[in-house]
Amino acid sequence: MRILAIESSCDDTSAAVVDDGRVVLSCVVSSQDAFHAKYGGVVPELASRRHLEMIGPVVDEALQRADTSLNEIDAVAATNGPGLIGSLLVGLNFAKSLAFARGLPFAAVNHIEGHLFAARLGDKAPAPPFVGLVVSGGHTDLYRVEVDYRPRLLGRTRDDAAGECFDKVAKMLGLGFPGGVVIDKLSRDGDPNGVELPRPMLHSGDDAFSFSGLKTAVKTHVETHGEPEGKALNDLAASLSAAIVDVLCAKLFAAAERERVSQVVVCGGVAANSMLRARVTQEAERRGMELFIPAITFCTDNAAMIGAAGQALLDRQGPSPLSVNAFASLVKGIAP
Ligand code: KG4
Ligand code: ZN
Repeated sequence: MRILAIESSCDDTSAAVVDDGRVVLSCVVSSQDAFHAKYGGVVPELASRRHLEMIGPVVDEALQRADTSLNEIDAVAATNGPGLIGSLLVGLNFAKSLAFARGLPFAAVNHIEGHLFAARLGDKAPAPPFVGLVVSGGHTDLYRVEVDYRPRLLGRTRDDAAGECFDKVAKMLGLGFPGGVVIDKLSRDGDPNGVELPRPMLHSGDDAFSFSGLKTAVKTHVETHGEPEGKALNDLAASLSAAIVDVLCAKLFAAAERERVSQVVVCGGVAANSMLRARVTQEAERRGMELFIPAITFCTDNAAMIGAAGQALLDRQGPSPLSVNAFASLVKGIAP
């Protein structure tokens, strides 16, 4: 089945054409980073307006790059939540209108489920049950993905997401937006033991996370030692990354051991982080587990993952009604 998929939950407008939930014929992402950079974060009103401008051209380009016409599309999928409501509505309504006009089945996809399905876009796909860590700007969630591919929430952050911690620290240090990539680059020349930082909830014995205290610890360090520059900045970036990676890695593998699964998935924007990728690769090898981590372009928000999840949804339960609405929060998200 050939799916046209759309993702517009935050500040990226994306469209993709995906065959059989695994083969990406095209994936176009129009980033709004430059629009929001001067505000140090995503401005919801600006985001939805920009989505409106970009959705048509981005879908056209995705079809063109896939060398596909609308006549060859078998179904349409779009993210319906969680995310910024104004942003979600643009992609969702575009997709529903298209499905209605062409008489095509429609799949309303949960954004987080989409991130988990990005793991199926590589050469090899994980076979459930597995444990998946979704680590992004909005989420730090651990799931057990059941045999029917339904994700069951094991635990999540009690406050900030890991990506949010990277972004807020970057903002505090005047490093620009989004901060995760900048801190990743700086950390490559830094000493991960250079600055002593806490590992929040490392020994909590459950699947919960907390990252807001880490941000405060960095703030206290800066207040005591002054704004870091040069090597000191590299060390702080590396130390922050190490603190986040230590906790993510320990909790992921503890959950996998406890759930008695041999496969783990790491996905979401923060899965693009070089230190996290290296550490989970090493740790999986050491424990004899199989790791699935999407290519970097499929870690951050993209429509290809929505196509992959949309295919599974259609296979599992058939089309979503066109009356389906967008939802902002996780209340109607993946059930705990
Ligand atoms: O999945 P995503 O694109 O959007 C959400 O669903 O939130 O994730 C964006 C997050 C941002 O917080 C960004 O700073 C972070 O992913 N991120 C990174 C890296 N690339 C993106 N964090 C650390 N290292 C990276 N290389
Ligand atoms: Zn995301």
